[in-house]
Amino acid sequence: MSSIESAHSNQTGSSSSAGFSKAPLARTVASTQSEMTEIVLPNDTNTLGNLLGGRLMHFIDLTGAMAAYRHARTNVVTAAMDHIDFISPVHLGDLVTLRSSVNRAFSTSMEVGVKVWAENPRTGTMLHVASAYLVFVAIDNEGHRVRVPEATPQTPDEQRRYEGALRRREHRAAESDRRKAAQLATRAEEAAALES
Ligand SMILES: CC(C)(COP(=O)(O)OP(=O)(O)OC[C@H]1O[C@@H](n2cnc3c(N)ncnc32)[C@H](O)[C@@H]1OP(=O)(O)O)[C@@H](O)C(=O)NCCC(=O)NCCS
Repeated sequence: MSSIESAHSNQTGSSSSAGFSKAPLARTVASTQSEMTEIVLPNDTNTLGNLLGGRLMHFIDLTGAMAAYRHARTNVVTAAMDHIDFISPVHLGDLVTLRSSVNRAFSTSMEVGVKVWAENPRTGTMLHVASAYLVFVAIDNEGHRVRVPEATPQTPDEQRRYEGALRRREHRAAESDRRKAAQLATRAEEAAALES
């Protein structure tokens, strides 16, 4: 596992880094790359013989966690999984290959991208069937959040994902604020309805 010795700089200006004094090293995105292949068995399928969406999400979560774990070198928990499109069905007997890497590290969180292909082992045809972005948070053995190293992009694709990760983080934060405001408005309406 390669690592680059440079001080961690907070790339987002997030205040959540307060209290985390340790400045870890940076690591390359390539050093986080992870891969998993599974065969689709009857227990993984629905009544049409296609891979269950929930089972695929489980594989995505696991492969994403592997990249985050390699980057953080400590426990990681899933904080969020973004919207997933299941582009094509995956059939019984197909080989499902998932590849993941850390797109960008923030203070204690990391965005990981996971891409999924299905291979028909009889024909050798590979089809891109799903992609997802997940956020993992690094946690020590006492359950406290810990700072993670910076993830250094080195190729044009890694740079593109690195920049996209910041936009998606801002989008997630805006969505979270919108949901909280909607919940507050609903509670206020319910309270007003009870009073009237
Ligand atoms: C994820 C978790 C550790 C966040 O803890 P928290 O005290 O709410 O922390 P904060 O709100 O201060 O956020 C901490 C970091 O997580 C990120 N984060 C928290 N919730 C997030 C979400 N829903 N989506 C994306 N990022 C999120 C923040 O952006 C922040 O990142 P940064 O340190 O890099 O700036 C906590 O909510 C948790 O333990 N959740 C359960 C995780 C779990 O059990 N997952 C298994 C699957 S159910």
